[in-house]
Amino acid sequence: MTEKRAGDRPYTGTNVDITYNLRRCIHAEHCIHGLAQVFDKNARPWINADGASVEDVAATIQDCPSGALHYWRKDGGAAEAIPEKNTVNVWRDGPLQFTGDLRLDGSETRATLCRCGASHNKPYCDNSHLTIEFSAQEAAPIDSQGEISGGPLTITPSTNGPLEIDGSLEIFDAAGNLLFSGSGTALCRCGGSGNKPFCDGTHNKIGFKSE
Ligand code: SF4
Ligand code: FES
Repeated sequence: MTEKRAGDRPYTGTNVDITYNLRRCIHAEHCIHGLAQVFDKNARPWINADGASVEDVAATIQDCPSGALHYWRKDGGAAEAIPEKNTVNVWRDGPLQFTGDLRLDGSETRATLCRCGASHNKPYCDNSHLTIEFSAQEAAPIDSQGEISGGPLTITPSTNGPLEIDGSLEIFDAAGNLLFSGSGTALCRCGGSGNKPFCDGTHNKIGFKSE
C-alpha cells in the first residue's frame, strides 16, 4: 500500500482524491498528454479530480513513472496493485525507473532515481541529467535469467556511494535488453561508473558527495 508522503499536495474529488508531489515530478508529462481533462498545467488548480472516470484517473496515474502522482479511490474500487516483480528500466542518458514493491522513503510502487550525480533532490531525479548533458554507456546485456521472486525491494542510497539494492529484481536497458536478473546489487548514482548502471567503485575516486 502506497503511503502519503511529506510534500504531497491533495486534490479532492467526489470519487477519487489525487495527490501530487512537485519534488518527485520529472515533468515527463504522461499525465498531461494522457488525460488532459484532469491534468491541465494552464488551469488553476491544475488537477481536476472529477474531470474523468475514476478508472481513467487510476490508469493515467499508474503511468506516472516518478511516483509524483497517486490516487485514493473513494468509490470502493481497488487501490493501485503492487507489481508482482521488481523492475528497473534504465532510461537512455537519464534516470533509473523503479517499479515494484519498493521500500525507499516508505512504501512505494514507482520512483525515478538520479544516476547522473547532479540532482539537487537526491536520491530522486530532478532532470539535472538534461542540464549536464549526461551521457551513459550501459553494461552488456546478459542471456541467462536468474531466479526472480516477488517481495519487497529495499533501496538504500548509501552516503557518497551507490544505491544499495536488497531484494529480487530485473534490470533492463532502454532498448529492453536484460542487464541483470537476480537478487541484490549496487547501482551507480555518481554518474562515473565504467560499468553503468552498476557501481564499480568510481564514486570513491571522484569524491562523489551525495548530500
Ligand atoms: S512525472 Fe508524473 S506528475 Fe510529473 S509530469 Fe510525469 S506523469 Fe505527470
Ligand atoms: S555510485 Fe557511481 S561508481 Fe559507485
